[in-house]
Amino acid sequence: MTKSFPSVRSFDKNEPFKVIFVCLGNICRSPTAEGIMQHLVNKRGLGAYLEIASAGTAAYHEGEPANSKSRMVAEKNGVKLLSTSQKLLNEDLNYYDLVLAMDTSNKKDINQLPMAKTNSDKIQLFRLFDPEATSPNAEVLDPYYGGIKGFDEVFELANRSCEALLDHIVKSKK
Ligand code: 4NP
Repeated sequence: MTKSFPSVRSFDKNEPFKVIFVCLGNICRSPTAEGIMQHLVNKRGLGAYLEIASAGTAAYHEGEPANSKSRMVAEKNGVKLLSTSQKLLNEDLNYYDLVLAMDTSNKKDINQLPMAKTNSDKIQLFRLFDPEATSPNAEVLDPYYGGIKGFDEVFELANRSCEALLDHIVKSKK
């Protein structure tokens, strides 16, 4: 059975499609998703048509590069993580076309921002795009306090979800 993904703004080459991935600290999960998505966008020659970013709901690590384990796992898979941690801003909810939360707690925090009400369709759980997810509430679990296995798992599921997400965006052409 083909999965149905959330509907997204039409992909239009005159107006870049903007995606921001959001986790708590913006050093592990969302930088991994951002790096993978940018890698796939570049590989498909779509760099001029999509804008990819990431942010955290908290500013604990503002200004820091991605976590060293996240970078190591990504590099082993041919992906570079180049992000610098930043906090999600209220105005980001107007600017981006899709705001993808890594877990339900991140989504709840995003929905507390004043501009969330008028942008609610854009705020979704990232794993809604995971072809292997079995629940609409599937999450990307925080690997920060655990070993390398958790970081490998984040990479794997972010990789397949980003592939499906990019296919879905590109297919939503007018
Ligand atoms: P992330 O992981 O949300 O995937 O970047 C975390 C990083 C740092 C903390 C929590 C989660 N922290 O509490 O400092």
